[in-house]
Amino acid sequence: MIIFKKAADIHNFLATKIKENQSIGFVPTMGALHEGHISLIYKSKAANSLTVCSIFVNPTQFNNPLDFEKYPITIESDIAMLEEAGCDLLFLPSTDEIYPKDFIKINYELGHLETILEGKYRPGHFQGVCMVVERLLRIITCNILYLGQKDYQQCMVIEKMISLRNMNVQLVIAPTIREVDGLAMSSRNRRLSKEERQNAIVIFNSLMNMKSKITNNSIEEIITEANKMISEKGFEVDYVELVDCQLNPLEKTNHKNGIVALIASSINNIRLIDNMTLINPVK
Ligand code: PAF
Repeated sequence: MIIFKKAADIHNFLATKIKENQSIGFVPTMGALHEGHISLIYKSKAANSLTVCSIFVNPTQFNNPLDFEKYPITIESDIAMLEEAGCDLLFLPSTDEIYPKDFIKINYELGHLETILEGKYRPGHFQGVCMVVERLLRIITCNILYLGQKDYQQCMVIEKMISLRNMNVQLVIAPTIREVDGLAMSSRNRRLSKEERQNAIVIFNSLMNMKSKITNNSIEEIITEANKMISEKGFEVDYVELVDCQLNPLEKTNHKNGIVALIASSINNIRLIDNMTLINPVK
């Protein structure tokens, strides 16, 4: 695996590969890699001749300074995992490479995506995500961008940013990878104590419970039950929401746009999110 630290170097390297008609897959990350990230590397390798991963803990997307400070840095094991997975290139930039002095900040018109769910609880977060992903995509010119469904709203936001900025890249959203007991893999899981880790399964269990009840119970009932299940395990619930697959409010009678359940809750300042499609959209 070749490691690049300078934006110009990886950009120029990729330019020669594009001239040779190689197809490039890109997996952006903030490090602290787990099997969820590695599944994206495998997906990219199966479809492209070159796979690029980036590791950059982006300060502009953290609205909570404590979360940024505590974000796990495990660069050596990240590199080992990427090498083992057969990743071709790693971009490991400094903050100055991503945000040089002449960097021009723009405002992305994200509409309702910015004010609901994560947007409501993490003001400015999605502007920071768009800022870094656009910058990364300008440096790492790729054919396909790979993201995980665990960050459902982030996927929708990046899809919108790609269209707003007329970027020529295909977005592939890959399924959430879970631990054996169902907990969605996340870099934040490693901050949980043993007991918190055990209790965190409640997030997955409540999603499964909602899925089993969606056809026979009211939306209000299943949301109330999920809130109760999660709080009983000591988690503070930010939201349990049911929306359609484009994150619009549900219509009362017509579920042809599908139903997704999304949950965010925290314990001891460790915030976990997860989601599940309860009803698939009608194609
Ligand atoms: O999902 C993440 O790890 C980050 O939000 C991303 C997409 C790498 C941007 O910093």
